[in-house]
Parts: sequence; structure tokens; C-alpha cells
Amino acid sequence: MEITKEKLIGCAREAMQMSYSPYSHFAVGAALLGKNGQVYKGCNIENASFGATNCAERTALFKAVSEGCHEFVSIAIVSKSGGLTFPCGICCQVLSEFFEGNEEIYLESPEGISTYKLADFLPHQFNL
Ligand code: THU
Repeated sequence: MEITKEKLIGCAREAMQMSYSPYSHFAVGAALLGKNGQVYKGCNIENASFGATNCAERTALFKAVSEGCHEFVSIAIVSKSGGLTFPCGICCQVLSEFFEGNEEIYLESPEGISTYKLADFLPHQFNL
């Protein structure tokens, strides 16, 4: 069965329900579609030591990589704000480690689903 952008956004919304965000009260959910057809869901997980917080996108990516998936088709990101929630700089850099450039990034807003590419947010990746 094809995973449409609408379905992937739905998965991100499910992931958002699991958000652990007692400090910011800003719930975020992400759903990452692997080339293997699997959807990896992630939420933000905050910590009393704020810098230890993990964003939803990285939770999803780390779940995927830890299960052996390194190639992706798309990622959907939603938040409780209801508006467009762009991935933060750290998440863009982390995604760039595995993204090749054609992956689609779906963001939800009241106007509908907008599609981006990682280069829209991170034109240059840090590399060694
Ligand atoms: N957050 C994400 O989950 N993804 C982002 O791309 C940006 C921010 C989370 C981290 C923190 O739990 C909350 O949003 C407020 O910064």
C-alpha cells in the first residue's frame, strides 16, 4: 500500500501524542518513511537538563538507523502549534547525514500540507 503524504502526516500526529514535553508544553511529532517501506515515528523527549532534549525528527531518525534503515523517501513533521513547524538546525544537520537530497519533507499548516526539500532549510551541510 502506498504511503501518501496525508497518511505520513497522520503517522506524525500519532507520534505527537507520545511527546514528553513537560517543560515547553510544545508537542512535536515526526514520521519518517524508509525506502524499505517502514514508517519510523518519533516525538520530542525533553529533559530537566534542557540541552539533553531530543527533537521528534531525531527520535524518528535514530529509531530508523538503530534498526538498520539508512535510506529514506520522506518525513512528515507536525506540532501542536497547528502552524508550520520547520525542523531545527540540529535536526537538519542530522538528517543530512542520511538524506541524499530528493527526500520530501511534509509540513502541516492550516492551509494544508507543504512540501520541502532539506536544501530549503540547510543549503550547506557541515562535513569533515
Ligand atoms: N522540537 C522538535 O521536536 N523539533 C524541532 O525541529 C524543533 C523543536 C522540540 C524540542 C523541544 O521539546 C520543543 O520542541 C520546544 O523547543
